[in-house]
Order: sequence, then structure tokens, then C-alpha cells
Amino acid sequence: MLQHVVRSTVIDAPIDRVWAVLRDFNSHDQWHDVVAESRIEGDERGDQVGCVRSFTLKDGNRIREQLLTLSDTDYKSTYCIVEATVPLQRYVATVTLKPVTDGDRTFWHWESTFATPPGQERELHDMVAEGVYEAGFENLRRFLRDGGDRRGASGLALPTALPMASRRAEVRHYGGPDTLQPGDGEAAAPEAGEVRIRQRAIGVNYLDVYLRKGWIPPMLPLPGVPGMEAAGTVVDVGAGVSGLLPGDRVAYLGPQAGAYCSVRTVPAAWVVRLPPAVEDEVAAATLLKGITADLLLRDLGHVGPGTRLLVHAAAGGVGLLVCSWARRLGATVIGTVSSEAKARVAREYGCEFPIVSPEHRFAEAVQARFGGADVVIDGIGDAAREENFAALARRGHWISLGQASGALQPLSADRLVEKSITFSRPAVFDYTATQADLAERAARVWAALADGTLKTPPIERHALGAADEAHRRLESRRTIGALVLIA
Ligand SMILES: NC(=O)c1ccc[n+]([C@@H]2O[C@H](COP(=O)([O-])OP(=O)(O)OC[C@H]3O[C@@H](n4cnc5c(N)ncnc54)[C@H](OP(=O)(O)O)[C@@H]3O)[C@@H](O)[C@H]2O)c1
Repeated sequence: MLQHVVRSTVIDAPIDRVWAVLRDFNSHDQWHDVVAESRIEGDERGDQVGCVRSFTLKDGNRIREQLLTLSDTDYKSTYCIVEATVPLQRYVATVTLKPVTDGDRTFWHWESTFATPPGQERELHDMVAEGVYEAGFENLRRFLRDGGDRRGASGLALPTALPMASRRAEVRHYGGPDTLQPGDGEAAAPEAGEVRIRQRAIGVNYLDVYLRKGWIPPMLPLPGVPGMEAAGTVVDVGAGVSGLLPGDRVAYLGPQAGAYCSVRTVPAAWVVRLPPAVEDEVAAATLLKGITADLLLRDLGHVGPGTRLLVHAAAGGVGLLVCSWARRLGATVIGTVSSEAKARVAREYGCEFPIVSPEHRFAEAVQARFGGADVVIDGIGDAAREENFAALARRGHWISLGQASGALQPLSADRLVEKSITFSRPAVFDYTATQADLAERAARVWAALADGTLKTPPIERHALGAADEAHRRLESRRTIGALVLIA
């Protein structure tokens, strides 16, 4: 028996504006949250009757649909599924718009018929009715409210000086994860040298935790939005920006917090274009952390064949990238982790000698087996301080990257001279301060991902509105790999 799903709503926008989005059969990955990526097969346009869109849902399902009719006078289109990994059979759907003269709004009617395998009627009916149609209504509303349609068919932005609504996670007072609360803000129209970005994936870094706790107030004045990096699509660009166009897929990192939001305006000098093979979530998980791994190993550690490298939190976001890259460079990679499960993953990523020690007791093992470490990459801070001294080899280099366990107490130069230890305390933003530096370092990360030098870390996803939960997880020491927020 055929199922019949009918849903309708009223959208608070003129019919031509709504239709301009819906008539493009390939627009749904811009506005519908369930769609991850879509393309039109062959060389056809997205409003060409007969064209086929091939798309992937965020849950991994793949669907090919064909546009059967399109009428600009009736504001109506029909389409059908030609192939899908979800069991919707003989699926034919119609979208119809009608003007609502009162308030210049639009009535949107969406209906379909389809068959389903026995036993799955209810589940698939609800998926179409709620997951696709009703969620789609809400998503399109938000898309129009945010001005996401203010791009012409050429992909060029229509001139607009309007701010765009931007959902965000903000900190109203310094403290624990609970202080991160969802809120509404705006992304200003880009001024000269700026770019406005609709963000899809936002990188979560341990630095965000320090800022939320109030350890570096100048970097997060209150109320403030944390976050130093994200990936998404350019909405529009300000005067004087070259090399970036509306519609470009991009990622950025920069020294001013504010990335935990859905739309953000940032200096163009922070932004790089994404290679097609690098998805937004992967970019958000690897741009800042990958550039950090590169500067640690190349610029500071001079890591090469035979370097005895000790990396703390080896199964973390930065840690796994360091492990895989250092192994490729021929280093002997020793890592500390707090659990056997983390040790297993660190090993898969190139850490030959994981040491499981939640209490940061590692020096004896490092000295006994390797005679000390030439380079220590330390994101732990004070809890590992004395063990780091003990684990370092003569003329070893201690790179103090961060302080997840608490602020590193001041070191006296006399302690360093005992073994001629050198010490550095880098901040990634000093290595990406010019556009040329950023472009060169980002290119090295993309190349390393492409040739397998860098293995993409496991990515733990949280909704932007659940940023507090992402922080709770990161601080729990139970995460493996990188965390991203989905806007
Ligand atoms: N300076 C820079 O430019 C720069 C750039 C990027 C990152 N960083 C630093 O690099 C480090 C790693 O950053 P990430 O974002 O990739 O985080 P992460 O490593 O994914 O997460 C932090 C890890 O630190 C370890 N840890 C040890 N003691 C901890 C404690 N008391 N509380 C919480 N965690 C503890 C945990 O691993 P175990 O449980 O296995 O010990 C935890 O999983 C951080 O210190 C961060 O600040 C610095």
C-alpha cells in the first residue's frame, strides 16, 4: 500500500524569495540540516528538468533524485527517488508555493507518495514527515532569516550591508562548562578586508577551556564567545578582498575568540580555501591542531629520524596528529596517555611506545628504555613539570604547549642548565600571523592529509547549542581525537 505524506506551512518571506531557493534542485545542502553534501550529476543545471541530484545525508545515507517537472509560473516542482540506501520505494514528491497576500508571506505545501518494506511503514512515514518536511520548513526559515540566500545564481553575493543573525554559544561569567550558554547574536556585514562566513563546523581546542575559565581575560572579555577556528562557506566579502568569493568553502583560525557561532565576520587574512577533498568537519578538526603539530615538529623540535620524541596526551586532538606526523619523519614516538583504550588508538596513529599513566609518572620508563627524550611536547602543564625534567635527555628540548592540568609554575634558568635543557612556549597564532605564513602552513597540513602523512583523528561531534557538553567531555579526559561543534 502506498503511503501519503502531506505537510504545509507558512514562511515569513515573499514567494519569489522562497521560490528562488527551492527551484534550485541542488540548494538543499545549503539550507536543510539533514543534507551533508549534494551535487548535480553531469553538466546540467540545478533547474534543468531531468537533472539528477546525488546527495549524502548526515547519517551517511546516499540518495539520487530526479527533477521531473518545474514550473516558475505555478511555483511548483515534482521529483522522484531513482536510487537510495534508505528503503523508500516509488517515492514521488511535489513542492508547491502560493502567495499569502497578508504580510507578503508564502504558503508552502510539500507532499509525497511512496511504498515501504513491511514493518517499516511508521518509521519511514515519520522520517519523511518530520525529519525531512517539518525540519526542512524550520531550516529554510532559519536560512532565509540568516540571509543565506543572498547569493545570486553565479555564486556572487548580492550587495547587502545588513547584519545576519548568528546563533552562538557565549560565556557570561568565567567558570565551569555550565557558563557556556546558547544565545543569539549578529554577524556584521564585512568591511574592507573582511569575509563573512556561514560556519558548518567549529574546532574545539583546549585553549577554549582556559578562556572560559577566565585564565586569559584579554582574549575573552565578558560576555564573550569562545572559539578560534571554524570551517564553512563564504557568504560575502568586503572591499579589497582578493582570492575569496561567495560560495567558496573555507576554514580559518585567528587570535581573537568568537568562533562558537553560526555566522561570523573575520579578517580575510585568517582564511584559507579548502581543497575539495577536505570536508568541513575534518578542516575544523585539523587546521589549528595540524599547523600546531607542524610547528612543533619542524620549527621547534627539528624532529627527524631517530629523534626520541615524548608527547603527552598522545591520544588527544593535537597528540594524534603529532604521533602520525612524527612517525613519518622517522622519530621514535613515545606518548603518555591515561587509559589503555587511549594507548591502543595512539599506537594506531604511530605512537610506538604509549605509557599509560593518568598520574603523569613516565620519566623512569623513558630513561630506562630510551636514555631520555630529545624533545618533550607538553600540553599538560604543572602536573608533569618534575617528570619532564627527569625524562629529558641532556640538551633536550621542552616545548610547553599548554596546561590542561593547571598553570605551569615559573621555571628557574638554573634548573635548565643542569642538563642544558632548552625551553620554548609557542602560540600557534604567531606562526600564522601573515597570510603567506598561514597559506603555506595550511597547505602543508592539507598535503599531509592527502598523502596519508597525517591520519585524520577520530572526530567527536556536538551541536553548537551543546558546547557546554563538548567542554565537559574535553575536560573529562575521556575524549580521543578532536571535538567539533556543528552549527
Ligand atoms: N600553544 C598553542 O599554540 C597550542 C595549540 C593547540 C593546542 N595547544 C595545547 O595542546 C594541548 C592539547 O590540546 P587539544 O585541544 O588537542 O586537547 P586534547 O589533547 O584533546 O585534550 C586534553 C588532554 O590533556 C590530557 N590531560 C592531562 N591532564 C589533564 C587534566 N588535569 N585535565 C584535562 N586533561 C588533562 C588528557 O589526556 P590524557 O587523559 O591521556 O592525559 C586530555 O585528553 C592543550 O594543552 C592545548 O592548550 C596549544
